Amino acid sequence: MRALYSGVPTIPYLRFCHHSPPTILSLESPFVIHLPPKQYPSRSSNSPLLQRHRQRPTIAASMASAPSTTEPETEIKPFSVLFVCLGNICRSPAAEGVFIDLVKKRGLDSKFKIDSAGTINYHEGNEADPRMRAAAKRRGIMITSISRQIQPSDFIDFDLILAMDKTNKDDILGALERWKFRETLPADAHKKVRLMCSYCKKHDETEVPDPYYGGPQGFEKVLDLLEDACESLLESISAENT
Ligand code: 4NP
Repeated sequence: MRALYSGVPTIPYLRFCHHSPPTILSLESPFVIHLPPKQYPSRSSNSPLLQRHRQRPTIAASMASAPSTTEPETEIKPFSVLFVCLGNICRSPAAEGVFIDLVKKRGLDSKFKIDSAGTINYHEGNEADPRMRAAAKRRGIMITSISRQIQPSDFIDFDLILAMDKTNKDDILGALERWKFRETLPADAHKKVRLMCSYCKKHDETEVPDPYYGGPQGFEKVLDLLEDACESLLESISAENT
């Protein structure tokens, strides 16, 4: 099904979608209707790690020092990472789950804000694909994200935007170029967008393959690549932010 995703996603995508047609056609449609993002309930934690950006991210209160009259106030902003794939129900939710699991194991949860999104909204509001959740659970990783589409504020709210494949990356950068005409976005926002596999050390793949129409081995491959990439991603962020 790769050919379906190459180039510009357009309305014919709908034929392959297993859910009802979206309100927002696609990032690339000339008739894009951008609705305000849905407001989702809190994830019952104050940890920035678990704050979905859809609740509008703020600098984590837990990271800010108490205001003092004698010393300058120091605010440490969590490093924010957004994982992006096509539907936000397989690869990017898995990347989010793998990275959350990793930073938690290292006791670094308060230092990160982690989220995921899709370049399309076909699955908006849905839980991750049960096959992806089951494969991750077998490795002790919980995937709890709810699908949403990438939006302009993500280029402000996130330090790093990691695309699962080259088409995702092109779609993200294409959307950024269009959004720049009507939103005030950082001039160098494109520098935040990278390929997830650029962090892989144990694998030669350059993309995380879409497992949606394949068999169970596809979901295992996704997790193998993500575990490799997330490990190096954390090393890289830590090295750059010490
Ligand atoms: P994802 O996988 O981009 O890894 O979430 C897909 C999810 C849904 C579809 C394609 C890929 N779809 O065509 O609906």
